[in-house]
Amino acid sequence: MFSVQKWKCSWSMVATVASIIVLVSVVHLFLFPVVPSLDYFSARQVQYKCVPINSSLEQSTDHVWENKPKGLNLDHRFPTDLHNGVVYRNAPWKAEIGRWLSGCDAIATEVNIVETLGGRRCKSDCSGQGVCNHELGQCRCFHGFSGEACSERLNLSCNYPGTPELPYGRWVVSICSAHCDTTRAMCFCGEGTKYPNRPVAEACGFQMNLPSEPEGAKLTDWAKADLDNIFTTNGSKPGWCNVDPAAAYDSKVLFKEECDCKYDGLWGRFCEVPVESVCINQCSGNGHCRGGFCQCYNGWYGTDCSIPSVVSPIGEWPKWLKPAHLDIPSNEVTGRLVNLNAAVEKKRPLIYVYDLPPEFNSLLLEGRHFKFECVNRIYDERNATLWTEQLYGSQMAMYESILASPHRTLNGEEADFFFVPVLDACIITRADDAPHLSLENHTGLRSSLTLEFYKKAYEHIIEKYPYWNRSAGKDHIWSFSWDEGACYAPKEIWNSMMLVHWGNTNSKHNHSTTAYWADNWDKIPSDRRGNHSCFDPAKDLVLPAWKRPDVTSLSAKLWSRPRENRKTLFYFNGNLGPAYTSGRPEATYSMGIRQKLADEFGSTPNKEGKLGKQYAEDVVVTPLRSENYHEDIANSTFCAVLPGDGWSGRMEDSILQGCIPVVIQDGIFLPYENMLNYESFAVRIREDEIPNLIKILRNINETEIEFKLTNVQKIWQRFLYHDSILLEAERQQTGFGRVEDWAVEFLQQSDDDVFTTFLQAHLPGPKKETKEPIPADPPTPPFTCWPPHTAHLLHLLCRSHATCTCKEKQTRNSQRKERKKKTKNRN
Ligand SMILES: *[C@@H]1O[C@H](CO)[C@@H](O)[C@H](O)[C@H]1NC(C)=O
Ligand SMILES: *[C@@H]1O[C@H](CO)[C@@H](O)[C@H](O)[C@H]1NC(C)=O
Ligand SMILES: *[C@@H]1O[C@H](CO)[C@@H](O)[C@H](O)[C@H]1NC(C)=O
Ligand SMILES: *[C@@H]1O[C@H](CO)[C@@H](O)[C@H](O)[C@H]1NC(C)=O
Ligand SMILES: *[C@@H]1O[C@H](CO)[C@@H](O)[C@H](O)[C@H]1NC(C)=O
Ligand SMILES: *[C@@H]1O[C@H](CO)[C@@H](O)[C@H](O)[C@H]1NC(C)=O
Ligand SMILES: *[C@@H]1O[C@H](CO)[C@@H](O)[C@H](O)[C@H]1NC(C)=O
Ligand SMILES: *[C@@H]1O[C@H](CO)[C@@H](O)[C@H](O)[C@H]1NC(C)=O
Ligand SMILES: *[C@@H]1O[C@H](CO)[C@@H](O)[C@H](O)[C@H]1NC(C)=O
Ligand SMILES: *[C@@H]1O[C@H](CO)[C@@H](O)[C@H](O)[C@H]1NC(C)=O
Repeated sequence: MFSVQKWKCSWSMVATVASIIVLVSVVHLFLFPVVPSLDYFSARQVQYKCVPINSSLEQSTDHVWENKPKGLNLDHRFPTDLHNGVVYRNAPWKAEIGRWLSGCDAIATEVNIVETLGGRRCKSDCSGQGVCNHELGQCRCFHGFSGEACSERLNLSCNYPGTPELPYGRWVVSICSAHCDTTRAMCFCGEGTKYPNRPVAEACGFQMNLPSEPEGAKLTDWAKADLDNIFTTNGSKPGWCNVDPAAAYDSKVLFKEECDCKYDGLWGRFCEVPVESVCINQCSGNGHCRGGFCQCYNGWYGTDCSIPSVVSPIGEWPKWLKPAHLDIPSNEVTGRLVNLNAAVEKKRPLIYVYDLPPEFNSLLLEGRHFKFECVNRIYDERNATLWTEQLYGSQMAMYESILASPHRTLNGEEADFFFVPVLDACIITRADDAPHLSLENHTGLRSSLTLEFYKKAYEHIIEKYPYWNRSAGKDHIWSFSWDEGACYAPKEIWNSMMLVHWGNTNSKHNHSTTAYWADNWDKIPSDRRGNHSCFDPAKDLVLPAWKRPDVTSLSAKLWSRPRENRKTLFYFNGNLGPAYTSGRPEATYSMGIRQKLADEFGSTPNKEGKLGKQYAEDVVVTPLRSENYHEDIANSTFCAVLPGDGWSGRMEDSILQGCIPVVIQDGIFLPYENMLNYESFAVRIREDEIPNLIKILRNINETEIEFKLTNVQKIWQRFLYHDSILLEAERQQTGFGRVEDWAVEFLQQSDDDVFTTFLQAHLPGPKKETKEPIPADPPTPPFTCWPPHTAHLLHLLCRSHATCTCKEKQTRNSQRKERKKKTKNRN
């Protein structure tokens, strides 16, 4: 057996040997110093405890419920243990919840697949200004560099062209009166100052007009630079670029209050402390996070440096690529780098993740002007994790989990699904950050700009990879994190599965409902977006929004607070529209729903001093958020789930605090609604029933309330990004030897989370235990494995309808086997 070190040193020697099998000790790879154990890797595999179910029961595809529970017989609607309804991780689930998990035993078997490690070289090794993708032999260049070898330096301006009235151009987030770093379009103090690398972000560099009224807001004059106050060395004037932090902290000198440390990777009032920036998976320990872009160490590649090439030491291979043995091709080795095959044992579903060019991910992170944008965490002055409130942060969380998942494969030939990582969450917050993104070309529509991003990603994968055409993109997965979901997906990719946060089927709301003009997608011509809905429950999935991991709520077990402590009948907090101080003015905001609700049940006086028409003591509908928001929800029985400019994160607030969600938004799917049985833990009220809302809720009896509360407690972790949180815990521990309170607290939760649920949704359909030879035309078994609402997943795999037999899949498998045989013969 080879030792890890030996392998690295003797590559050329080894390469001359015909075929060597290297068994890498599991102990080497998985030994972890753990107090407490954060190595939960083994638990990351989806558990496959499946029970066959009776397919003929699964007729109901109807997701629209009766609004009034009439003659509700819980035992009839949810017969206990119906056909061994899933008993899953000791949760005695009612038959319908989780039934989609059933009957899939056969696919739990491990598969042996061959992972190919890329050995293609990039021109000039990307000139040290990029990372080589060894699969394609193509450079991913850092921000501000381009060309085949990243040798070309870009000149990205911070400002739009100036005019006499606006010498710095019109406003844009990157607007700069000091030194523009033209590789990043970011603004700094520059040479000649005491702190040349100190950011001069946005309002910092411009003059402030003091308000005319005492309460008024200060206004920035974007036409007048404030050079005096940022460049002065006179300590009695507010300087910025020359202020010594220590003196300023001691209040010995003045500094300009509008100046702030907004860029990532820097901490302290004056950006004087270098800290970790946020990178995808923090470069997996195989690279340096360069302000958001992973600068991988020699040989490693991928957005998160998680892909080894042939020169990467085996002992350092990531856990998801646990190798069983390696085949070293003798006949192709001529001293150059070649592709290397490693046989690996894995469980389906196997997901291939495209390593897209950096414009779709790393550059968006590297070019962020505000450190909190689009990420789910940043790092503080100790480099400890600081979780964000960014609802859009789930896109990054999901991407990281998939990349680090044991279900990931590098072998597209074997993959069941293909994940295309376009980080549109970062486009939302970046779209007007810098002139080079050319929002102008889209008449200011971020939706149109973003559509173009997806289209370019599509063009890239059809040009560079063979996988799209096999299923016309049906086995591809895209993520759209914007408020209204995948409405603006280019028509070319609509066959694929869309991961969104809001599932508008367009059955009732058939046009853009956002009140935010730049996100409107109605104006995108149909030759670009086609004529698709925003969500298709037969193929797409709604994922929960990111919620900051809240240790206080978790340790107080708010999710399990019993019925008797939930004295508030109904609760909603959020913007209630123009009737209230600082309410959103647009009538279309929240599709008018929040406004209607407040009109009936408002519990805080509006601008006219009025309460809702049907105000009641135990009903809270308020625009005022208390400091105990989570506890307020935990003290309520029913909690409203209403739209905002699309999704609003209220489903997650409700579920994570153990409250029964009351969904009011017609024709909109909520997280995992096409997989979970919402009827058993939520209430849906039609929009036109809002005036009767409280009457309806008061009519729900204790038995049913108890039933729903209990069920919320069974599924709440499916709304938690537990995998993502623990991955970060593991990184903190390996990187800094640190185990924070949140890590300990979250480690104690072990039910299926957002990511596991996502994987379960992708479990392949039943596989027949046919040993070779596979009959040319396999018999058609009845469709017994999948309930109708997940049939689409099978559909994705097999590309046929409910009676799917996985025939095509098998054919594909047999083709693969043929291919493999041929490969073997060649060797
Ligand atoms: C499946 O359900 C149908 C109708 O409820 C019933 O007639 C049939 O016997 C069941 N089959 C099995 C195998 O339980
Ligand atoms: C609960 O309500 C349903 C109808 O809404 C009724 O059938 C059931 O008997 C009630 N249960 C109790 C315990 O009152
Ligand atoms: C970059 O562009 C600006 C104007 O857009 C120009 O003034 C400047 O000379 C350019 N710099 C380089 C290095 O090309
Ligand atoms: C510093 O600025 C203050 C206030 O503007 C001014 O009174 C003083 O003369 C300046 N000192 C120097 C050395 O320029
Ligand atoms: C935090 O990380 C940055 C960047 O890697 C490093 O320069 C700094 O010294 C670290 N600080 C601490 C306290 O570990
Ligand atoms: C924007 O449009 C202009 C003029 O049509 C074109 O020259 C430029 O390349 C476009 N920019 C981008 C990023 O597409
Ligand atoms: C994929 O399909 C499209 C349209 O069917 C075709 O134009 C294209 O050439 C195909 N690409 C490959 C690589 O086969
Ligand atoms: C949207 O719905 C309205 C009313 O339900 C209908 O009149 C209109 O034609 C629909 N528009 C589209 C594009 O389907
Ligand atoms: C869009 O699709 C709907 C339903 O499929 C159809 O009724 C409508 O005519 C289509 N509109 C356009 C512009 O193609
Ligand atoms: C929630 O209810 C408990 C009693 O059940 C009470 O002690 C607590 O103060 C309440 N919290 C809030 C924020 O009202």
